Amino acid sequence: MNATTTPSASEKSPLAAVRADGTHTLPKPASVPAEDALEDRSRLILAAMVAFRDGDFTVRLPRDWAGNDRLMAEAFNQAISQQERIAHEVARFSGPVGQAGQLAPRMTLPGASGGWTATVDSLNTLLADRVRPTTEVASAGGAAAQSATPKLSILKRLRAETSERHAGLEQRMTVMDPHLSRADYRALIEGFFGYYAPLEARLGASPVWAELSFDFAARRKVPRLEKDLVALGKTAEELTRLPRCAELPELDTMPQVLGCLYVIEGATLGGQVITRHLLATHGITPETGGAFFAGYGAETGPHWQAFGAMITAAERFGAADEIVASANRTFETLDRWLFPRAVR
Ligand code: HEM
Repeated sequence: MNATTTPSASEKSPLAAVRADGTHTLPKPASVPAEDALEDRSRLILAAMVAFRDGDFTVRLPRDWAGNDRLMAEAFNQAISQQERIAHEVARFSGPVGQAGQLAPRMTLPGASGGWTATVDSLNTLLADRVRPTTEVASAGGAAAQSATPKLSILKRLRAETSERHAGLEQRMTVMDPHLSRADYRALIEGFFGYYAPLEARLGASPVWAELSFDFAARRKVPRLEKDLVALGKTAEELTRLPRCAELPELDTMPQVLGCLYVIEGATLGGQVITRHLLATHGITPETGGAFFAGYGAETGPHWQAFGAMITAAERFGAADEIVASANRTFETLDRWLFPRAVR
């Protein structure tokens, strides 16, 4: 077939059947003499590729070919499905993302690899950057904005300088594993309870709150962890006997408290991703064991922004290095508590 006979997407054959998901397979000719079969398949492949080139991601090659033709059709169909999914996800996210208080949903592409994964990762980074607190701007009107060398805001520093620790912890947590057992999930919640209970007790007793405009008591996560553990079968008496972490970050100064708070407040962002997964994969709701990860729910965005404003304003107390060090120490102690064999 030469260039003059190349079909365009708009000229493609009438559709065979459009599936519920909107995709359609290019129709086969009514009767195909054996000697013409190869040519017919080539035509279908060309038509499908031209449609793909022209941005029609709904077209599919027949699923009933044999041998290598079948493998080729499958590979093509998978590739176009990935592209269709990305286009669909981008369209879905372009609406809510960026609106006040909205969190970036995470784009996922199951089974993706190589360049597909890289594309999705880049888009997720872009989305996360778009919704990262506008509170960062809050401090920019001050001295930092006028300085010749722009100072990195505390939130940006925290994010950048703890990302390695976050990645390690995220990787070790099996909570996103579709095969996670109920017992494993409960053990994870017990682990968080064992860390947060003494941590929140210590944070609550800190004198720093008088100087900060932040309602720490209203943000405590331990009541949610207790609720989850009861929903997952623990009695109130058993809760009192659960082991508690003794190696906590130092929380004697304002910067130390702020760094620690960054970690436990930031965890509510990832919690939204985990919540969607728990519901979709295990049917776990905030009422049946998912209250900790669900956290502030629809209020997560506004709560994070309020925290961002608070920590940005608190920079006036100085010691950004100490804040970052404390955040890393919090990640480190939590990681070691949850995964003692993996983290030294
Ligand atoms: C499987 C487990 C986890 C996953 C999948 C996860 C995922 C995420 C995601 C997607 C974000 C970005 C949310 C957004 O920008 O909209 C995030 C942010 C964050 N997560 Fe996690 N996370 C996990 C565990 C944790 C844990 C256990 C902690 C600490 C207790 C934590 C602390 C943070 C912090 C501090 C941020 C804020 C980063 C920033 O400055 O933007 N995460 N997480």
